[in-house]
Amino acid sequence: MNTPIRLGALISGGGTNLQAIIDACESGALSAEMAFVGTDNPKAAGLARAERAGIPTFAVNYPDILSRRKKDPPTLPPPPDLDLPDLIVRQRLIPQDAPPARRDAFLLGRVAAESALLREMERFSFDLLVLAGFMRVVTPYFLDRINPEPDRPRVMNIHPALLPAFPGTDGYGDTLRYGCKVAGCTVHFVDYGEDTGPIIGQRAFPILPEDTLDSVRKKGLAIEWRLYPECIQLFAEKRLRVERPDKGGRPVVRILPASG
Ligand code: GRF
Repeated sequence: MNTPIRLGALISGGGTNLQAIIDACESGALSAEMAFVGTDNPKAAGLARAERAGIPTFAVNYPDILSRRKKDPPTLPPPPDLDLPDLIVRQRLIPQDAPPARRDAFLLGRVAAESALLREMERFSFDLLVLAGFMRVVTPYFLDRINPEPDRPRVMNIHPALLPAFPGTDGYGDTLRYGCKVAGCTVHFVDYGEDTGPIIGQRAFPILPEDTLDSVRKKGLAIEWRLYPECIQLFAEKRLRVERPDKGGRPVVRILPASG
């Protein structure tokens, strides 16, 4: 039996995936314990789930920070350890040829909020950070501070579509509106793009003629609640290895066989 890993989680909303993870920790299906739950949205309903389970929580008010940064930038100067030119080159969230003022404002707003997140997270030790309905992109500024070894990523996300199809905020809606006959969800490590990181696990389900957006979301979420803890358990068992099969190509996750 592995020693339980410590999980941090970030949420924005209702936190049903967070609940599934908390339940899996409590039932022993997941050899993990929760170190903290943070949010970008002080009103996130999921915070109550963490509090009920006795997990420390914190909120970083993203809307407030982003609007302050926009209206009055000097009140939120860039953190001293930010290398903006380097961040601009490495990030894949906004096109390199976007108007520089717009690009810099976007990145500096996110970095201001991320440095507040990192300050909160510094209080806890954790092995893996799970984004569980965290509706914010994260920049390389944030990721590099959590992933000191690039080939051993420590940030996971769950996405409501079969990536690489339908990245973005409305995976089930985009899948249905496209006329797909199959929907699904994906757990992946987070990289410098939006929903582009190496895939750990996926699960699909048919879209039936009578399905609505609501029914697809409901079926999808029920599948997410099983898939996410399973993928976290693979991490806890050290069975996820990031490899680059083609020299210089995109990294992929290989799932190692269970030991013993
Ligand atoms: C889920 O569909 C997840 O895939 C997406 O946001 C939703 C969050 O739901 N990223 P919940 O807050 O876990 O209930």
